[in-house]
Amino acid sequence: MNKVKFLSLVLVTLTGSLFAQDKVVPTPQWRPAYHFTPPTNWTNDPNGLIFLNGEFNLYYQHNPFENKWGHMSWGHATSKDLVTWKHFPVAIPEIVTKDTTTWIYSGSVVLDKNNTSGFGKNGKPPLVAIFTADQPKQKKESQFIAYSNNGGLSYKQYAQNPVIDLNMHDFRDPNVFWYPPTKQWIMTVAMVDDHIVRFYGSKNLKEWTKLSDFGPAGFTKNGWECPSLLPLVVDGNPANIKWVLFVSSGGEHGPLMQYFVGDFDGTIFKNVNDNHKVLTVDYGDAFYAAIAWRDAPQNKKILLGWLQNGRQETNPWKGQMSIPHDLSLKNTSDGLVLYQLPSAFVTQSLPKYAKGNVIEKKNTSINGSGPVLHGEGNAYWIDVEFDIKNAKRVGFNVAEKAGTDKKVTVGYDAEKQQLFVDCTGSEKVNKSPENLIQTTPMKAVSGLVKIKLLLDRSSLEVFGNDGERVISTMIYPDKDATGLSVFSEGEAVIRGLKIWNLSPKVLSTIK
Ligand code: FRU
Repeated sequence: MNKVKFLSLVLVTLTGSLFAQDKVVPTPQWRPAYHFTPPTNWTNDPNGLIFLNGEFNLYYQHNPFENKWGHMSWGHATSKDLVTWKHFPVAIPEIVTKDTTTWIYSGSVVLDKNNTSGFGKNGKPPLVAIFTADQPKQKKESQFIAYSNNGGLSYKQYAQNPVIDLNMHDFRDPNVFWYPPTKQWIMTVAMVDDHIVRFYGSKNLKEWTKLSDFGPAGFTKNGWECPSLLPLVVDGNPANIKWVLFVSSGGEHGPLMQYFVGDFDGTIFKNVNDNHKVLTVDYGDAFYAAIAWRDAPQNKKILLGWLQNGRQETNPWKGQMSIPHDLSLKNTSDGLVLYQLPSAFVTQSLPKYAKGNVIEKKNTSINGSGPVLHGEGNAYWIDVEFDIKNAKRVGFNVAEKAGTDKKVTVGYDAEKQQLFVDCTGSEKVNKSPENLIQTTPMKAVSGLVKIKLLLDRSSLEVFGNDGERVISTMIYPDKDATGLSVFSEGEAVIRGLKIWNLSPKVLSTIK
C-alpha cells in the first residue's frame, strides 16, 4: 500500500470513530458523470483489464462491505464504449478460513485461447486471473491463479495455489501476457522494496520460471508496485515497436508513476536510456496503479489508472478510474516519449452523450477575462487551441464560485513554458501545500498550445499538446461552484474551442 492510501486509511478510521454517530453525508455533486465509479463502496487499482466479445471488462480493487480500503476483492464491470458501465457482482471475493484471510490484490486476466492451463470446459477456453494473494496474518504475499468458465463473471481458485511463493512480505501485482515468439506467458511482478521488476515465463500459467530482473532504476525512493510491460508503436509505424515498462512508485517526492522505454527479447527488458533517467507518466497527484487493455480493437493499447482522492470523503462510494488513455510513442529531441490521449473510443461517443449541448468558437481574440462560457453541472470536456501571441498565461477558470475568489485555474504559462493546474483558490483543505500547484514543462509549437480539459465533478484531467503531457488531479468544489470562464493575461487568440457539456443526465440528482 502506498503512503497516500495508508494516510487516507488512517484519516478515514479517525474521522470514522470521531463521528461514528453522524449520518454519512452523500456527495452526489462529486460523483463523476462519465468516469467509472463503483455503485457503492471503495475502489482503488484497476485489475484484469480484458476486451472480450465486443466489451471492455474492468475488474477493480474493491471493498464490498465498506467505503474504505479493506476486505480486498475484485469488483467487476463491463462497457461497450468506455463511458457507460454495467455493474456485476464481485468476481473474486476475499477468502476467509479459520486460520487465514486471503485478500485478492491487484493482477491481470488472460484469455487462455489454447487451453494451455487445462482449465477450459466443453471445448471453451477459460479466462485465467493471475493476482497477488495478500495474507495479513502470515505477513505474506504470493501469486495465485483462478479461472472462469462463465465469461469472467466468477472465478474458481486453483487448488494448488500459490503458483509463485518466495515467502516475501511485499511481492505483488502480476501482469501477464502471451509472447508468441517463444510461445509462452510472460509475467512482470514487483519486488516492492527492492525496486525490482521480476520477469517470469510459463507454458501453462501454473509453473513459472524466473527469466530476469529489471531494476533498481529510475525513481526508487518509494516501493514499486503494479509493473506492466507493453509493446507500443513508434511514430505511428507498426513496424517500429518499442516496449514500455510502467511502474507505480508511490509519489512522495517523485512521480506517482514512471516508465522505462526499451527492448524485450522474451527474457530480458533492456532500457534504451540510462538507468538513472526518470520518465513521468502523469504530472498530477492522482493517477496511479494504471494498467492497460492490451487487446482492444485496432490494436490500441489503452491505459486506465485509479485517481486517488486522498483526504476527501465521498459517499456512498470512494475512488474512481481515470479517463482511459490511448498510448503511443514518439521520437522527440528528448528521446522516445510516451504520448497519451483520451481514448478514441470515448472521444467518438462525446456527441452522443452531449446531446447537442456543445459550444464552439473560432478565431476569437481575448485579453483579460473572457466570457463565462458554460459549466453548469461541472461535467464537461474542453478541446482548445490557443495562439498565445504575447500573453503571459492563458487558460480557464473552472469550478468558480460566483461572488468569491474560489476557483481552480488550468492553463499554459508562456513565461515558464509550463502547463499548470492551480488549486490554491479552492483546495487548501484537500491537498498538501506542495500539491496545490501542479505543473509540467511543455513548449508551445509555433506559438500554439493545445489543451484538452476534462472536468467531471471531482476529477480534473488536463492533456497538453496532443498528449505530450498529462496532469490528473481531484478537486472538490462547493455545489454551487460551477462557473467556467476563459482568461488571458495579455493578448491571445482562441484558434479553436469546443466544449461538450456532459452533465444533464446526472444534474437532476443534485439537490
Ligand atoms: C497499489 C496497491 C497494489 C496492491 C493493491 C492493494 O495501489 O497497493 O500494490 O496490490 O493496491 O489494494
